[in-house]
Amino acid sequence: MAIIKKFRITTFKKERPKIQIKNISFSFNKRQILEDISFMIREGEICGLLGPNGVGKSTIFNLITGLLKPDYGDIEINQKKVTNIPIYKRALDFGVAIVPQTGGVFANLSCSQNLKAISEIVIDDKNQRNFKIENMISKFQLEPVKDIKAKFLSGGQRKRLSIAMSLLSDPKIILMDEPFQGLDIMSTRELQETIVKLQTEENTRSCIISDHAARDLLAISDRAIVLANKKIAAIGKPSEILQNEDAKSAYFGDSFKIN
Ligand SMILES: Nc1ncnc2c1ncn2[C@@H]1O[C@H](COP(=O)(O)OP(=O)(O)OP(=O)(O)O)[C@@H](O)[C@H]1O
Ligand SMILES: [Mg+2]
Repeated sequence: MAIIKKFRITTFKKERPKIQIKNISFSFNKRQILEDISFMIREGEICGLLGPNGVGKSTIFNLITGLLKPDYGDIEINQKKVTNIPIYKRALDFGVAIVPQTGGVFANLSCSQNLKAISEIVIDDKNQRNFKIENMISKFQLEPVKDIKAKFLSGGQRKRLSIAMSLLSDPKIILMDEPFQGLDIMSTRELQETIVKLQTEENTRSCIISDHAARDLLAISDRAIVLANKKIAAIGKPSEILQNEDAKSAYFGDSFKIN
């Protein structure tokens, strides 16, 4: 198994923005969650999204997919405003896919049936569909459990299924909300390699990944964003983020190290 570099080389092949978050503010009822947030994700970038529980990471994913609408501000994908474009069109026209923090699978369908259900929506050709399903089953080590209903899978197996389902559509933008949660050590390493491979095999593909397994996440991130108190506390390369005083006080603390 190849060893993942502690930090990836961040000489960007492309500087073109893939996703632009422009002055977004968002509230649930009257409670403000995000206040005037702006950032840009480049083509081909793997970006880690970090921050304490409840800071608004999943909310940002939901704003990008179109599940939520900002109170103020705009979202652009491929330099086109998508703020008013519905979820299904963002998925189809811009290749946006999400691995949700929880769920993301049909509990009463088996692994194979879950993959089949999604593939019937996103892949037209039947042979291609079957090929892709087999490929995902093998890539995510689901072979021994492929006929088991999703509700009976272990947490990590269910997570792997949910990731496999999100990749069936060959997405161009992948949003992963806590993909490492519940994965064992080997599966974590394999997922890190899968994510890096997803980016290298198509170098315009961008990933935003949120996870509290900060070491595992930063090891594969080109840049990272730390959110705190409705705002961005720090943004930059992992090595810069780890030195940043605001990021330390908001999230990492003083003793966090990547050895
Ligand atoms: N549907 C909702 N209605 C009201 N408040 C909500 C709703 N969904 C989320 N919230 C609140 O919005 C805030 C941000 O939630 P979000 O799920 O984005 O946090 P997070 O950064 O992903 O946290 P975690 O690390 O725990 O996953 C939280 O305070 C949460 O309670
Ligand atoms: Mg979350």
